[in-house]
Amino acid sequence: MNDSIIALLNQDIEGEHAAIIQYLTHAYAMGEGEMACEIEAIAREEMRHLDWLAKTIVQLGGVPSLKRGDMRVGGKTVADWMGNDVLQEEDAIAQYQEHITAIADPKIKRLLQRILSDEESHRGDFAHFVEKGQKQGLKDIRGPRQDEVAQVLDWGIEHEYTVILQYLFHSYMTPNEHVKKEMEDQAINEMQHLGWLAEEQVDGGGTPKIEHTEVDQSTDTADMLRADIKIEEEVAAEYDRAAKKVEESGLKELLTRIRDHEVYHADVFSDLLKEEEQQS
Ligand SMILES: [Fe+2]
Ligand SMILES: [Fe+2]
Ligand SMILES: [Fe+2]
Repeated sequence: MNDSIIALLNQDIEGEHAAIIQYLTHAYAMGEGEMACEIEAIAREEMRHLDWLAKTIVQLGGVPSLKRGDMRVGGKTVADWMGNDVLQEEDAIAQYQEHITAIADPKIKRLLQRILSDEESHRGDFAHFVEKGQKQGLKDIRGPRQDEVAQVLDWGIEHEYTVILQYLFHSYMTPNEHVKKEMEDQAINEMQHLGWLAEEQVDGGGTPKIEHTEVDQSTDTADMLRADIKIEEEVAAEYDRAAKKVEESGLKELLTRIRDHEVYHADVFSDLLKEEEQQS
């Protein structure tokens, strides 16, 4: 019984994941401005949806999916992109309506209804953005930059996206409340890093590539922490090397700041691992 509900909710998670990355891609590509801010706010609402769905799946004894559903990232103008976001919302609306009918559990039904009402509101927002994009003639401000700096930024984006997924997954799967809380906190911090790096990429004339590498899916808390410490130590060293190498002072500062955060993350996770090892 639970298995079929878990499967439906995992489809919903994959749709939310796709929407988040699609909307962020669009927000970064149009540069600073009111509309980009509003789109980022919508992406944050999709993150909350993903979070509620993942927690529900874990309560049902399932494992949240880390797969990303299909994205619509084609189109040349902001109006085209916003049209694609309308279509993404329409797919989500149809899928939530189906799942609300298919699931009998009143609590889960209520949650999906709540999410559905957000998606309906988002569809209206994006329809409005299609008009606004046309009227204002908003364009793609991304460039073709592919030098060493652009490569460092893409490497950083790839790393940040990977650890966001990894820490969220670990926060959902660990029974240790303290670890759960820290994982959530650090995942939010990694989201900030991703945003900074993507904006820096666009400002510098590049095109952010938002893809991730393999995510550690340990379910034992000590194993999770060991994997997380290892990745933090590796990337802190990499950010340090990159910060020393780049010439531009703003970028140097950014990479140094991120490095300091990663060192902090490694320390927090190391303390948690000590606690966890003492308990077991
Ligand atoms: Fe959503
Ligand atoms: Fe980070
Ligand atoms: Fe980190």
